[in-house]
Amino acid sequence: MVVSTINDSSPLSFSNDTTIPASTFSSNSFVNVEKGDPVAFGPYWEKLRDECMIEIKGDEWMSYFGDANNLCWYMVPPMRDAILRLHNAVGNVVTKDKFLVLGTGSSQLYQALLYALSPSEPSDRPINVVAATPYYSEYKDATDILQSRLFQWIGDAALYDKDEPYIELVTSPNNPDGTLRAPVVNSGAEGKVIYDLAYYWPQYTPITYEVDHDVMLFTFSKCTGHAGSRIGWAFVKDIEVAKKMIRFVHLNSIGVSKESQIRAAKMIEVICDGYQNLKSTKSDHLFFDYGKRLMKERWEKFKGAIEQSKIFTLTKYPTSYCHFNKDLSEQYPAFAWLKCMEGIENGESYLEKLKIRTRGGERFGVDAKYVRVSMIGTNDEFIELCTRLSNAKRE
Ligand SMILES: Cc1ncc(COP(=O)(O)O)c(C=O)c1O
Repeated sequence: MVVSTINDSSPLSFSNDTTIPASTFSSNSFVNVEKGDPVAFGPYWEKLRDECMIEIKGDEWMSYFGDANNLCWYMVPPMRDAILRLHNAVGNVVTKDKFLVLGTGSSQLYQALLYALSPSEPSDRPINVVAATPYYSEYKDATDILQSRLFQWIGDAALYDKDEPYIELVTSPNNPDGTLRAPVVNSGAEGKVIYDLAYYWPQYTPITYEVDHDVMLFTFSKCTGHAGSRIGWAFVKDIEVAKKMIRFVHLNSIGVSKESQIRAAKMIEVICDGYQNLKSTKSDHLFFDYGKRLMKERWEKFKGAIEQSKIFTLTKYPTSYCHFNKDLSEQYPAFAWLKCMEGIENGESYLEKLKIRTRGGERFGVDAKYVRVSMIGTNDEFIELCTRLSNAKRE
């Protein structure tokens, strides 16, 4: 059994028989739920720390190259095999007839894609980049930081009606609001779509079908919670697009850290071995089962706090059949997207007064009545967040 060193009498639940232990948070400190740092799954990995150990000797993985025979020459074979094995186990994407491109986080691959999907010559008319609001707040800054003559940020995809080529970003489930999305641009011009599937994993949303698009982005950060490893990958149908992305990664960082790849491959192997040896693995020792249970418990607690506060309303999510978990399930997004009730104009500053740090709607292209709250931070922060929300009184 893969997770054999876990003490069978104390699974990943705590004395109150939930996945959420009591908080030790100081009431004077700010609760910071502004960022999406996915440390919530830390207690799971802590229990599996021995199984996840890797050893890299002094002379190993020294080369820039990971596999000179692969188009993505800096990717090591264990990383490629682990990614394919994971998707095969989860059934969330069609990997056949696609090129796999590895990046230093999917953030690097986003930049690589902008480069690869833009016209090859700079022009006075850079290609327009759009995403339906509310959109992932980093897209805008990441697009405009170098003030490129190849591409430029335009904003809301739903308002795009120019007769000019464009790149549309579709994040599904969406950050910040968790909704399932499809392209929305209504223009006759030539458009290319980047699907960002960072949250299409069973702990956040039912896996309803195998997604199959020309360009799809994934990140290790939100899959297992190991954001610090900086591993992301893309499945790309067109070899010319894949080649341009690889050229970008070459010029930007000459590949992706081999140590990170080896570690990520190991974590994925541990997850997949658990599901492969299903009969001998307890359900809370299975990563996605544990992750889903944690997210469900957090969402139930959070909804209770929001109802008590009577200050915000929450996005509602549909129930669907999950082919991975083989059950009907709701979504448990990585972020909660709150809207202030009548009379409160700025959610972020309202919560700031309660010593809760959040990210306001304007960063996501909508108004300040909306606010995003991370559901994947530390347990202490999460418990304190719920306590402060339930105790909140309208001024
Ligand atoms: C939708 C989305 N895409 C991409 C990323 C970045 O992922 P990475 O850590 O792999 O750069 C995030 C991180 O929050 C995200 O929410």
